[in-house]
Amino acid sequence: MAKSLKLVLLGPPGSGKSTVAEQISKKYSLQDVYMGQILRDEIKKDTIVGKEIAKYLNKGELVPGNFVSDLIYLIVHKKTKFMLDGFPRTVQQAEYIQDMKININCVLMLEVPESEVIKRLSLRRVCPNCRTQYHLKFFAPKNKNICDKCKTKIIRRNDDNPKIIKERFRVYHQKTAPLIKHYSDQNILYTVDASKNPKEVIKEVIKKLNKISKGKNQSKSKR
Ligand code: AP5
Repeated sequence: MAKSLKLVLLGPPGSGKSTVAEQISKKYSLQDVYMGQILRDEIKKDTIVGKEIAKYLNKGELVPGNFVSDLIYLIVHKKTKFMLDGFPRTVQQAEYIQDMKININCVLMLEVPESEVIKRLSLRRVCPNCRTQYHLKFFAPKNKNICDKCKTKIIRRNDDNPKIIKERFRVYHQKTAPLIKHYSDQNILYTVDASKNPKEVIKEVIKKLNKISKGKNQSKSKR
C-alpha cells in the first residue's frame, strides 16, 4: 500500500460507506474518521454545540458553516493515512480543506440505486452503546432487538424515518453529488458497484485500492 493514502468515501445515504470504512480501515491501518458519528456523539453529550448540531441532523440537513471542516483539519492535518466517511459533503468543504493543504489523493464513489438504499435505511438499527449496525432483514441480531455484542436494546436512528430519508437524498443530490465531477476532474475518483452484498462490495473495494496503490508506487518509481 502507498505510504500516503488520504481517502474519501463518497456515496448517497445508506450506500454502505460506514460498512466499507469499518473493514477497510482495519485492513489498511487507516484512521477512520466518521463525521456522522462524531456529530451524533456530540449530540449524545448534550452540550450546547450538540444541541445546535441536533437541529440539523434531525431534519436531514447538513451542519452549516466551517465547523465540520475545521474539525476535520484538527483531526487529520498531520496524518498521512486516513479515510473520511461523510466528509466532504459539498464542493465548498472540499476546497476548504484543500486550501489548508489537506490533499485528498483517492475518492471511492459507492454507486447504488436509490430504491435499494431506501430498503437498507428503513430497516437499519444501531446499538446506542457499542454502535454496531444491524439490518433487520440482512444482518438481524440473534435475539430480537438486542445487540449481539453488548446486549443493549438496538434503536432506529432519528434520521432513518421515511420523511427525513427523503430530505437526506434531496440534500445529497443538491449539495454532495457535485463532488463527483469535482474529484473526477482531478482524476482521483474511482467508482464501486455498491449494490452487491457487503462481502462482494468489500472485495471490489480492496481490488480497486490495491490497483490504485500499485499505480501510485509505479508512477513514483518512474519519477
Ligand atoms: P451520516 O451518518 O454519515 O449519514 P449518511 O451519509 O446519510 O450515511 P449513512 O450512515 O446513513 O449510510 P452509510 O452510507 O454509511 O451506509 P451504512 O454502511 O450505514 O451523516 C448523518 C448526518 O450528519 C448528515 O445527514 C448531516 O446532517 C450530518 N453530517 C455528516 N457529515 C457532514 C458534513 N461533512 N457536513 C455537514 N453535515 C454533516 O449502511 C446502511 C445500512 O445498509 C446498514 O443497515 C447496513 O448494515 C446495510 N448495508 C450496508 N452495505 C450493504 C450491502 N452491500 N448490502 C445490503 N445492506 C447493506
